[in-house]
Amino acid sequence: QEGDVAAGETVFKKCSACHNVNSDKSKVGPSLQGVIGRQPGIVEGFKYSKAMVDFGADKVWDDAQLTAYLANPRGVVKGTRMAFAGLKDPKEITDVIAYLKTFSPA
Ligand code: HEM
Repeated sequence: QEGDVAAGETVFKKCSACHNVNSDKSKVGPSLQGVIGRQPGIVEGFKYSKAMVDFGADKVWDDAQLTAYLANPRGVVKGTRMAFAGLKDPKEITDVIAYLKTFSPA
């Protein structure tokens, strides 16, 4: 199912204290520009947890991985430094992923 980009932009307000998406500059969290299809844990110059680097060894951030991670970050990547409880509403997850896609090459 397709997410709603405009709704996703609103959801992203829950992320934007820690993440840029329209720039490659990292904040408290790594830049999410181009995150779709990217291997977890590889933004240059960002200091990830070992948990995230290990998690990313054999993965890319696709719809399925992002959906699972955003629902329960600390459950899916045990030991992640991302201090965020997750998004409870599945529609918010679909919508924010649609928004992230607009900043990732197809
Ligand atoms: C990592 C998404 C909220 C801090 C990540 C990653 C994604 C992500 C996809 C992995 C990036 C990569 O592998 O390069 C989101 C989304 C959010 C959100 C969509 C909102 C719904 C937050 C918030 C904070 C935060 C509010 C700060 C309080 C971090 C940190 C990492 C991270 C520190 C690195 C984790 C690690 O190394 O274990 N986030 N995030 N995020 N995020 Fe978030």
